[in-house]
Amino acid sequence: MIKDLKKIYRSNGIETVALNGVNLKIKRGEMLAIVGPSGSGKSTLLNMLGALDKPTEGSVVIDGVDISKIDDNRRADFRNKKIGFVFQSYNLINRLKVVDNVELPLMLLEVPQETRRSLALSMLREVGLDSKSFKKPTQLSGGEQQRVAVARALVTQPSIILADEPTGNLDSKSGAVVVSLLRELARKGNTVIVVTHNMEVARAADRIIYIRDGKIEKEEVVSMVQVEKT
Ligand SMILES: Nc1ncnc2c1ncn2[C@@H]1O[C@H](COP(=O)(O)OP(=O)(O)OP(=O)(O)O)[C@@H](O)[C@H]1O
Ligand SMILES: [Mg+2]
Repeated sequence: MIKDLKKIYRSNGIETVALNGVNLKIKRGEMLAIVGPSGSGKSTLLNMLGALDKPTEGSVVIDGVDISKIDDNRRADFRNKKIGFVFQSYNLINRLKVVDNVELPLMLLEVPQETRRSLALSMLREVGLDSKSFKKPTQLSGGEQQRVAVARALVTQPSIILADEPTGNLDSKSGAVVVSLLRELARKGNTVIVVTHNMEVARAADRIIYIRDGKIEKEEVVSMVQVEKT
Protein backbone atom coordinates (compact mmCIF):
# COMPACT_ATOMS: atom_id res chain seq x y z
CA MET A 1 0.00 0.00 0.00
CA ILE A 2 1.26 3.41 -0.95
CA LYS A 3 0.10 6.51 0.85
CA ASP A 4 0.65 10.17 -0.08
CA LEU A 5 3.90 9.23 -1.73
CA LYS A 6 6.23 11.99 -2.84
CA LYS A 7 9.68 11.68 -4.29
CA ILE A 8 11.80 14.72 -4.91
CA TYR A 9 15.25 14.25 -6.41
CA ARG A 10 17.76 16.90 -5.38
CA SER A 11 20.99 17.29 -7.25
CA ASN A 12 23.23 20.36 -7.64
CA GLY A 13 20.56 22.49 -5.99
CA ILE A 14 17.99 21.46 -8.59
CA GLU A 15 14.79 19.82 -7.39
CA THR A 16 12.82 17.42 -9.55
CA VAL A 17 9.44 16.33 -8.27
CA ALA A 18 9.22 12.80 -9.66
CA LEU A 19 6.19 11.64 -7.66
CA ASN A 20 3.68 14.11 -6.34
CA GLY A 21 1.16 12.45 -4.04
CA VAL A 22 0.53 8.89 -5.17
CA ASN A 23 -1.95 6.63 -3.39
CA LEU A 24 -2.19 3.02 -4.46
CA LYS A 25 -3.28 -0.34 -3.07
CA ILE A 26 -2.05 -3.46 -4.76
CA LYS A 27 -3.47 -6.86 -4.02
CA ARG A 28 -1.53 -10.07 -3.66
CA GLY A 29 -1.87 -12.09 -6.84
CA GLU A 30 -2.63 -9.01 -8.87
CA MET A 31 -0.90 -8.12 -12.10
CA LEU A 32 -0.72 -4.34 -12.35
CA ALA A 33 0.50 -2.37 -15.36
CA ILE A 34 1.87 1.17 -15.07
CA VAL A 35 1.84 3.29 -18.21
CA GLY A 36 2.60 6.94 -18.87
CA PRO A 37 4.83 9.28 -20.86
CA SER A 38 8.61 9.31 -20.53
CA GLY A 39 9.68 11.13 -17.37
CA SER A 40 6.26 10.79 -15.71
CA GLY A 41 7.66 8.89 -12.69
CA LYS A 42 7.06 5.24 -13.59
CA SER A 43 10.55 3.95 -12.79
CA THR A 44 10.66 6.09 -9.65
CA LEU A 45 7.42 4.50 -8.46
CA LEU A 46 8.78 1.04 -9.22
CA ASN A 47 11.94 1.82 -7.22
CA MET A 48 9.80 2.80 -4.24
CA LEU A 49 7.67 -0.34 -4.54
CA GLY A 50 10.83 -2.40 -4.75
CA ALA A 51 12.42 -0.85 -1.66
CA LEU A 52 15.35 0.31 -3.79
CA ASP A 53 14.96 3.87 -2.61
CA LYS A 54 13.17 5.82 0.12
CA PRO A 55 10.34 8.23 -0.51
CA THR A 56 10.79 11.90 0.37
CA GLU A 57 7.33 11.91 1.97
CA GLY A 58 4.61 9.35 2.52
CA SER A 59 4.77 5.63 3.15
CA VAL A 60 5.18 2.36 1.31
CA VAL A 61 3.87 -0.62 3.26
CA ILE A 62 4.59 -4.07 1.88
CA ASP A 63 3.45 -7.15 3.79
CA GLY A 64 3.05 -5.01 6.90
CA VAL A 65 6.55 -3.45 6.72
CA ASP A 66 6.87 0.29 6.12
CA ILE A 67 9.95 0.37 3.96
CA SER A 68 10.27 4.13 4.33
CA LYS A 69 10.98 3.61 8.05
CA ILE A 70 13.58 0.85 8.04
CA ASP A 71 17.33 1.33 7.64
CA ASP A 72 19.29 0.56 4.47
CA ASN A 73 20.48 -2.87 5.63
CA ARG A 74 17.04 -4.08 6.53
CA ARG A 75 15.69 -2.67 3.30
CA ALA A 76 18.30 -4.57 1.29
CA ASP A 77 17.51 -7.77 3.15
CA PHE A 78 13.78 -7.31 2.62
CA ARG A 79 14.40 -6.72 -1.09
CA ASN A 80 16.57 -9.82 -1.57
CA LYS A 81 14.01 -12.07 0.06
CA LYS A 82 10.79 -10.75 -1.43
CA ILE A 83 11.37 -8.87 -4.61
CA GLY A 84 12.49 -9.76 -8.11
CA PHE A 85 13.46 -6.94 -10.46
CA VAL A 86 13.65 -6.79 -14.21
CA PHE A 87 15.31 -3.45 -14.87
CA GLN A 88 14.93 -1.14 -17.84
CA SER A 89 18.65 -1.59 -18.48
CA TYR A 90 19.31 -5.26 -17.85
CA ASN A 91 22.19 -4.74 -15.38
CA LEU A 92 23.85 -7.99 -16.41
CA ILE A 93 27.49 -8.52 -15.46
CA ASN A 94 29.32 -9.00 -18.74
CA ARG A 95 32.36 -10.78 -17.36
CA LEU A 96 30.18 -13.50 -15.83
CA LYS A 97 28.56 -16.27 -17.83
CA VAL A 98 24.80 -16.11 -18.35
CA VAL A 99 24.14 -18.90 -15.84
CA ASP A 100 26.31 -17.15 -13.22
CA ASN A 101 24.32 -13.95 -13.70
CA VAL A 102 21.13 -15.86 -13.03
CA GLU A 103 22.70 -17.47 -9.94
CA LEU A 104 23.67 -14.16 -8.36
CA PRO A 105 20.46 -13.49 -6.41
CA LEU A 106 20.61 -17.07 -5.09
CA MET A 107 24.15 -16.43 -3.84
CA LEU A 108 22.87 -13.45 -1.86
CA LEU A 109 20.38 -15.81 -0.25
CA GLU A 110 23.20 -18.29 0.47
CA VAL A 111 21.64 -21.10 -1.53
CA PRO A 112 24.19 -23.95 -1.92
CA GLN A 113 26.13 -24.11 -5.19
CA GLU A 114 24.56 -27.25 -6.70
CA THR A 115 21.01 -26.13 -6.00
CA ARG A 116 21.88 -22.72 -7.40
CA ARG A 117 23.12 -24.14 -10.65
CA SER A 118 20.15 -26.40 -11.23
CA LEU A 119 17.63 -23.66 -10.38
CA ALA A 120 19.39 -21.21 -12.72
CA LEU A 121 19.56 -23.70 -15.58
CA SER A 122 15.90 -24.64 -15.30
CA MET A 123 14.89 -20.95 -15.21
CA LEU A 124 16.97 -20.35 -18.34
CA ARG A 125 15.20 -23.27 -19.98
CA GLU A 126 11.85 -21.63 -19.15
CA VAL A 127 12.80 -18.46 -20.98
CA GLY A 128 14.12 -20.49 -23.93
CA LEU A 129 17.82 -19.85 -23.39
CA ASP A 130 19.21 -23.22 -22.34
CA SER A 131 21.61 -23.22 -25.30
CA LYS A 132 23.08 -19.87 -24.20
CA SER A 133 23.64 -20.64 -20.53
CA PHE A 134 27.43 -20.79 -20.75
CA LYS A 135 27.94 -17.79 -23.00
CA LYS A 136 28.77 -14.26 -21.87
CA PRO A 137 25.94 -11.67 -22.02
CA THR A 138 27.86 -9.73 -24.71
CA GLN A 139 27.51 -12.75 -27.03
CA LEU A 140 23.71 -12.53 -26.82
CA SER A 141 21.25 -10.34 -28.68
CA GLY A 142 19.43 -7.54 -26.83
CA GLY A 143 16.27 -9.59 -26.57
CA GLU A 144 18.17 -12.60 -25.26
CA GLN A 145 19.88 -10.42 -22.65
CA GLN A 146 16.48 -9.19 -21.57
CA ARG A 147 15.30 -12.76 -21.13
CA VAL A 148 18.39 -13.47 -18.98
CA ALA A 149 17.37 -10.50 -16.82
CA VAL A 150 13.88 -11.99 -16.54
CA ALA A 151 15.33 -15.38 -15.53
CA ARG A 152 17.53 -13.69 -12.92
CA ALA A 153 14.52 -11.85 -11.46
CA LEU A 154 12.40 -14.98 -11.19
CA VAL A 155 14.97 -17.54 -10.04
CA THR A 156 14.45 -16.77 -6.32
CA GLN A 157 10.68 -17.17 -6.70
CA PRO A 158 10.06 -13.74 -5.22
CA SER A 159 6.55 -12.93 -3.98
CA ILE A 160 6.67 -9.54 -5.72
CA ILE A 161 7.97 -9.13 -9.27
CA LEU A 162 8.72 -5.67 -10.62
CA ALA A 163 9.47 -5.25 -14.29
CA ASP A 164 10.45 -2.05 -16.09
CA GLU A 165 9.75 -2.44 -19.83
CA PRO A 166 10.39 -6.20 -19.74
CA THR A 167 9.43 -6.63 -23.38
CA GLY A 168 11.00 -3.41 -24.66
CA ASN A 169 13.69 -5.10 -26.74
CA LEU A 170 11.86 -8.28 -27.57
CA ASP A 171 10.25 -9.39 -30.79
CA SER A 172 6.56 -10.16 -30.36
CA LYS A 173 7.13 -13.89 -29.90
CA SER A 174 9.71 -13.54 -27.08
CA GLY A 175 7.63 -10.71 -25.65
CA ALA A 176 4.64 -13.03 -25.45
CA VAL A 177 6.78 -15.63 -23.63
CA VAL A 178 7.76 -13.06 -21.01
CA VAL A 179 4.20 -11.77 -20.61
CA SER A 180 2.81 -15.27 -20.17
CA LEU A 181 5.52 -16.04 -17.59
CA LEU A 182 4.49 -12.92 -15.65
CA ARG A 183 0.80 -13.77 -16.01
CA GLU A 184 1.46 -17.29 -14.71
CA LEU A 185 3.30 -15.90 -11.68
CA ALA A 186 0.31 -13.71 -10.81
CA ARG A 187 -1.99 -16.70 -11.21
CA LYS A 188 0.14 -18.54 -8.64
CA GLY A 189 -0.44 -15.71 -6.15
CA ASN A 190 2.59 -13.51 -6.75
CA THR A 191 2.19 -9.79 -7.18
CA VAL A 192 3.41 -8.58 -10.57
CA ILE A 193 3.92 -4.92 -11.40
CA VAL A 194 4.99 -4.06 -14.90
CA VAL A 195 5.90 -0.69 -16.42
CA THR A 196 5.32 -0.68 -20.15
CA HIS A 197 4.71 1.47 -23.19
CA ASN A 198 3.12 -1.46 -24.93
CA MET A 199 -0.67 -1.45 -24.51
CA GLU A 200 -0.85 -5.09 -25.54
CA VAL A 201 1.34 -5.96 -22.55
CA ALA A 202 -0.66 -3.60 -20.31
CA ARG A 203 -3.90 -5.33 -21.30
CA ALA A 204 -2.52 -8.64 -20.07
CA ALA A 205 -2.67 -7.12 -16.57
CA ASP A 206 -5.67 -7.06 -14.23
CA ARG A 207 -5.47 -3.30 -13.82
CA ILE A 208 -3.78 -0.41 -15.60
CA ILE A 209 -2.57 2.73 -13.81
CA TYR A 210 -1.92 5.79 -15.96
CA ILE A 211 0.72 8.16 -14.58
CA ARG A 212 1.34 11.73 -15.65
CA ASP A 213 3.55 14.34 -14.00
CA GLY A 214 4.11 12.18 -10.93
CA LYS A 215 0.43 11.57 -10.29
CA ILE A 216 -2.07 8.84 -11.05
CA GLU A 217 -4.21 10.26 -13.80
CA LYS A 218 -6.61 7.37 -14.18
CA GLU A 219 -7.09 3.74 -13.47
CA GLU A 220 -8.63 1.04 -15.62
CA VAL A 221 -9.73 -2.37 -14.45
CA VAL A 222 -9.11 -4.97 -17.14
CA SER A 223 -10.30 -8.02 -15.26
CA MET A 224 -11.81 -8.62 -11.86
CA VAL A 225 -9.41 -10.70 -9.81
CA GLN A 226 -10.49 -12.66 -6.80
CA VAL A 227 -7.47 -12.12 -4.58
CA GLU A 228 -6.84 -11.45 -0.94
CA LYS A 229 -5.92 -7.98 0.25
CA THR A 230 -2.39 -7.14 1.32
N1 LIG B 1 18.36 9.95 -9.87
C1 LIG B 1 17.69 11.02 -10.32
N2 LIG B 1 18.10 12.27 -10.04
C2 LIG B 1 17.42 13.34 -10.47
N3 LIG B 1 16.27 13.28 -11.20
C3 LIG B 1 15.82 12.06 -11.50
C4 LIG B 1 16.50 10.86 -11.10
N4 LIG B 1 15.80 9.80 -11.56
C5 LIG B 1 14.74 10.31 -12.24
N5 LIG B 1 14.75 11.66 -12.21
C6 LIG B 1 13.72 12.55 -12.79
O1 LIG B 1 12.47 12.22 -12.24
C7 LIG B 1 11.44 12.23 -13.22
C8 LIG B 1 10.79 10.87 -13.32
O2 LIG B 1 11.75 9.94 -13.81
P1 LIG B 1 11.42 8.41 -14.07
O3 LIG B 1 12.72 7.73 -14.34
O4 LIG B 1 10.65 7.89 -12.92
O5 LIG B 1 10.51 8.49 -15.38
P2 LIG B 1 9.85 7.30 -16.25
O6 LIG B 1 8.38 7.53 -16.23
O7 LIG B 1 10.35 5.99 -15.79
O8 LIG B 1 10.39 7.64 -17.72
P3 LIG B 1 10.84 6.63 -18.94
O9 LIG B 1 9.57 6.16 -19.58
O10 LIG B 1 11.60 7.53 -19.83
O11 LIG B 1 11.66 5.54 -18.36
C9 LIG B 1 12.10 12.70 -14.51
O12 LIG B 1 11.90 14.09 -14.63
C10 LIG B 1 13.57 12.37 -14.28
O13 LIG B 1 14.37 13.28 -15.01
MG1 LIG C 1 11.64 4.57 -16.67
